[in-house]
Formats: sequence, C-alpha cells, structure tokens
Amino acid sequence: MTSPRRRRRPVPVCALSCALAVAGCTRGGAPAAVDAGKVVVACGATEEWCAAMTAGFTAATGVGAEFVRLSSGEAMTRIRAGQANPEFDAWHGGPSDGFAAAARYGLLEDYVSPNAAAIPERYKDPGGTWTGVYVGVLGFCANTKVLGEAGPAVPESWQSLLDPALKQNIGMAHPSTSGTAYTTLWTQVVLHGGPAAGGVEGALQYMKRLHPNVLQYSKSGVAPAQQVARGEVGVGIVFAHDCVATREQGFPDLRVTFPAEGTGYEVGGVALVKGAHNRASARKYIDWALTPAAQEIGPTVRSYQVPTNPAARKAHQVFDLAELRLVDYDSAAAGESKLELTRRFDAEIAKAPKS
Ligand code: F6P
Repeated sequence: MTSPRRRRRPVPVCALSCALAVAGCTRGGAPAAVDAGKVVVACGATEEWCAAMTAGFTAATGVGAEFVRLSSGEAMTRIRAGQANPEFDAWHGGPSDGFAAAARYGLLEDYVSPNAAAIPERYKDPGGTWTGVYVGVLGFCANTKVLGEAGPAVPESWQSLLDPALKQNIGMAHPSTSGTAYTTLWTQVVLHGGPAAGGVEGALQYMKRLHPNVLQYSKSGVAPAQQVARGEVGVGIVFAHDCVATREQGFPDLRVTFPAEGTGYEVGGVALVKGAHNRASARKYIDWALTPAAQEIGPTVRSYQVPTNPAARKAHQVFDLAELRLVDYDSAAAGESKLELTRRFDAEIAKAPKS
C-alpha cells in the first residue's frame, strides 16, 4: 500500500512547462514565454552609450544583452510593427514623450522597478509606464568659424534663428524620426501658449518661417551637431550634450548657447515592451539602468546628460539645470499630440518649397 505521504498528484502541464521556463507561469495558469537569459534593447541613446550600457549590464548581472540603435520615431515604428511577435524586450533612451505616444498604442507594459523609488517623481511616469534615466536640454550648437566674424552672430534666441542671414545654414532633424526634433517642435508649442491656447498653430507658423533657413531635416537628432562640426551649416538645433560631445572629438570651434525665451528638455526613459519574450531579463535591465553605477557610464563615452538618480556622480561637462531657463515641458501632453503634430509638420512644413 502506498503511504499517503508518498502518493504523487499528477503534475499539471503548465507546472511542467513552467519548471522548464525561467519566467514561470502567469497568474492565469498559462505557460509564460521562456526567457532566453538575454535582453534585446531598442536603444535611443548614442551607439557608443548603447554598447557601453548593454556590456555594463551583462558584466553586472551575467544576463546577455543586444541592442539596435534607433531614433525615437523609428523605435516606436519598429515596436509597433512587432506588436504580435516583439523584436525588443526593453526600450532604453530617447525622450519620454515617445514612450507616452507608444503607451497610447498599447506597446508598453507598466513596470515600476523597486529602484524607481530613488528617482524623483518629476522624472517618471505616474502610471508606471516609463522611468527616467537621464535629462537632456535643447540648445544651439554653433560653429564660430563658419559663422565668421562678419557673419550672423551666434544665436541666443529662437527669434534670431529666423534671421535671413542664416538661410540654409541651420541643421535640424525631422520630428517624425527624431526625438530631439520633436522636443524642438513641442517647445515651440509651449512657447506659443500651449496646446489649449493656439500653441500648435503658433509652433507650425514658427517652423514655416524657420524652414528656408534649414538646409535639410536629418533622420537622427545628433546628426546636426556633426553637420555643424564638418562646416556644412553654421548652427544646429540639438540636445546641448551632443554638441559638447562633438566638440570633444576635435572641433574646438563649436559653441553651445541657449535660447533666451526658454528651452525644452527631454527625460530619457526606459520601459518594458508589451509581450516581451525576455520579460524577466528586461525587468532586470530596467532595474539596473536606474542604479547610480549604470548612470555613471554615460560620461565614459561622452554622453553628458544629467543622471536622474541623485546618487549618481555628475561629470563636470553636465549642464546645471538650475542655471537654465526651461519651459514647462509636459511629456504626456507632448506624447498625446505626437503622431498628429509630426504628420502636420511633414505635410505642411518639410515638403514645402524653400523661398
Ligand atoms: O545623445 C543621444 C541623444 O541626444 C539622447 O539624449 C536623446 O534621447 C536621443 O539622442 C534622441 O535621438 P533622436 O533625436 O535621434 O531620436
């Protein structure tokens, strides 16, 4: 007779598959996807920073990591295209309004990391969709040699960018692909009164006037800093840290200025992709990205954004936000308007002839 203590109950199929799966069972009893012990990251920071971050994560946790560098709009498009069978597990870097836009399409899964407690409230989504890993400020990147002593002055205001003397002499990215350029566009919405007070029309009017001065709209937001360094244009509208990084690469004539009217900023985010195959690894990546150690990696590869974790050491190249005149940048509102506003920019501005 078998003793009752030794009698075995049949193992449910789910429990069996979960024993084999790293991620285990879901609450409903269905088997969860097997985590392959690696995370695939859609990475919106610079190529060098993405490489250093993924390598640093693997060194710290033993979990594998791969990345694809994508500008903000491209990341959203790729994540949306892979909704049925996600290509990525985590999205790291790029302005949080892109994350807010993606959340509207159900592309992200809320995840509040235990490490998010260390991040100030203003740098994370109240609903838990994304958490801020860095802050970057928009500025102008001027090549003083290209502008020359007799040429247009180094710009100190949004208004001065409209000077006809800067015709075809400004570099800016396209807001549909670039988070930098969308931050520029939304900054104009705010400076023109905000979305509820005609700011959208005001911003598009401003962009229409700026258009003849823009040489071309690049895909990525860092490209205009490189154009300025090469002397193709005199001024770039970029995140200021990208100008500093480019200057350090052997271009001492580059100078950063900030617009007197006020400037916009990004909170670079990190989030979990909905339906991620490697969900457990993605959560580990997010946990790690919020630590001081992870946030101190940026400056080792010339990424001088402000860390969001107050315990992370700041490099001397990092701008002091308290010294800058920042606009009230509501990334949720910016994200909500992103698809429609970029569609209008493309149709009404980018394609217009240059007078
Ligand atoms: O340095 C890289 C960076 O400026 C980030 O601070 C920013 O989030 C990202 O690039 C924006 O890239 P893009 O404009 O190409 O979307």
